[in-house]
Amino acid sequence: AAATGYEAENATISGGVVESNHAGYSGTGFVNYDNVTGSYVQWSVPSAAAGNVSVAIRYANGTTVDRPMDITVNGTLVRGALSFPSTGTWDTWQAVTFTVGLTAGTNLIRATATTANGGPNVDKLSA
Ligand code: GCU
Ligand code: CA
Repeated sequence: AAATGYEAENATISGGVVESNHAGYSGTGFVNYDNVTGSYVQWSVPSAAAGNVSVAIRYANGTTVDRPMDITVNGTLVRGALSFPSTGTWDTWQAVTFTVGLTAGTNLIRATATTANGGPNVDKLSA
């Protein structure tokens, strides 16, 4: 099935703020992660059935330094320190994609910064 987009600005945010001062985002803005370890965005993703799905997180990283994040699904770590490398500028957006198993019903997908630089700016998750 075609992917559905879930905007970061509509997700649960811990240690981050919704901003719109860099162009190219979808929806009404993006999440600027606080530049600390542990800041996160958590999306509620419904799935009609259990199974593997392709997930894309659209982000910008205007620094030259990776901004890795741990990805958990329903509290289980599924990707440790997943790389979110430089996109060149803060208004250049790219997607990191990975496959995860979802359960039937609501799934909580969380992306947590693993370094003191925090996460990248995050626009949306598609699944
Ligand atoms: C700049 C940029 C922010 C970004 C921040 C960072 O301040 O404008 O959007 O989040 O750098 O380094 O995390
Ligand atoms: Ca930031």
